Amino acid sequence: MDKILSFYLLIALTAIMVITSHSSVIFRRKINDNALDFLTPERIKETSIFKNKLKGNNENEKRNVNSRSIVVPPVFSQTSPEYNYPIGRFSIRLPDGNDRICTASVINTANGNIGITAAHCLIDNNGETIDTNSMWFSPGYDNGTDGPLEIIEVETVAIPLTFLATDAWNDYALIKFAFNDPAEENETLQHYTGGLGWRFDVGNNTLTNLFGYPGSGNLENCTKDFEHICEWQGYTQLEQEVHPFNYIISGLRLGEGASGGPLIFQYDRPINLGYIYSVHRAWRNDTNESVASIFDVFVFTGLLLNLS
Ligand SMILES: *[C@@H]1O[C@H](CO)[C@@H](O)[C@H](O)[C@H]1NC(C)=O
Ligand SMILES: *[C@@H]1O[C@H](CO)[C@@H](O)[C@H](O)[C@H]1NC(C)=O
Ligand SMILES: *[C@@H]1O[C@H](CO)[C@@H](O)[C@H](O)[C@H]1NC(C)=O
Ligand SMILES: *[C@@H]1O[C@H](CO)[C@@H](O)[C@H](O)[C@H]1NC(C)=O
Ligand SMILES: *[C@@H]1O[C@H](CO)[C@@H](O)[C@H](O)[C@H]1NC(C)=O
Ligand SMILES: *[C@@H]1O[C@H](CO)[C@@H](O)[C@H](O)[C@H]1NC(C)=O
Repeated sequence: MDKILSFYLLIALTAIMVITSHSSVIFRRKINDNALDFLTPERIKETSIFKNKLKGNNENEKRNVNSRSIVVPPVFSQTSPEYNYPIGRFSIRLPDGNDRICTASVINTANGNIGITAAHCLIDNNGETIDTNSMWFSPGYDNGTDGPLEIIEVETVAIPLTFLATDAWNDYALIKFAFNDPAEENETLQHYTGGLGWRFDVGNNTLTNLFGYPGSGNLENCTKDFEHICEWQGYTQLEQEVHPFNYIISGLRLGEGASGGPLIFQYDRPINLGYIYSVHRAWRNDTNESVASIFDVFVFTGLLLNLS
């Protein structure tokens, strides 16, 4: 009964959903100034549907609370423990030949070749998943220069079905990299870069460090040219809802290129590691705030299972 109800709600939602523009799109060869990191206000829709879903569904809620205690620690690089570089620039060539820049990070997994970015980075303007042969990752990229491993290709991606259906929920996706160990010892990507830890239990007003490669926006002390890694530090809020969907950064437009950038809890600067708990999604023009989807533990672990 519940499932059927949810299904119809989803259909209804999809039908009324305002198609939002995809954020953080740049066109290096053809600059497009339509500033695609706007998000239309959709909080009301998200909230009302969730309230309906929750009716008579307390079972789920309880399970959710327990699973939120999953905490995976960060992992050091095995080749250079004093220099970890899990965060990098993620470039996507769109079907029209233009380029899009996003940010991605290697996370600590048993597989060792898994990263995370925003789901909308992987979707073209027609709502199709972009060919993985048109995606490249350079961990440690900065100042116009690739990181130590240069360019890494993508084997496959896992995008939440809820994102594909709504273009709004669960705007994060996992990436399995086609990493070839340069030393030919079959080591994984995280063996070289280190990997961010991850967790689901980050609450309101959390001190956060966020990184990305913006080409616009209002981050201070940042060369906004999609070529430089920039950092924001501050407190994120849970949006003010009975069941929040997003973390909010008030009064800040992180900018195009920062999409997929990790929100990191307990960031440890000397080792450049910490726990990722969300990724930058978009900027809300009406309230001048940046938003980032709260990870759903079942969706997230489902994506991971898909790639392992
Ligand atoms: C950044 O790159 C420019 C041009 O390649 C170079 O001149 C400059 O020294 C670099 N800056 C840093 C901090 O590496
Ligand atoms: C690496 O993996 C390949 C294929 O799985 C295998 O043929 C090769 O022997 C491995 N090399 C090393 C050094 O382990
Ligand atoms: C930007 O840099 C200036 C000068 O180093 C510093 O005073 C200021 O606090 C920095 N702003 C931010 C947001 O980091
Ligand atoms: C988070 O804290 C802010 C104030 O710091 C408050 O306005 C907001 O309602 C809180 N969100 C939740 C979900 O409690
Ligand atoms: C959003 O807030 C930032 C920080 O206060 C400010 O610099 C920027 O001008 C604001 N943007 C808009 C569109 O209001
Ligand atoms: C952004 O907000 C401003 C002020 O609220 C409004 O004038 C402008 O039309 C909005 N832009 C978009 C693209 O929604």
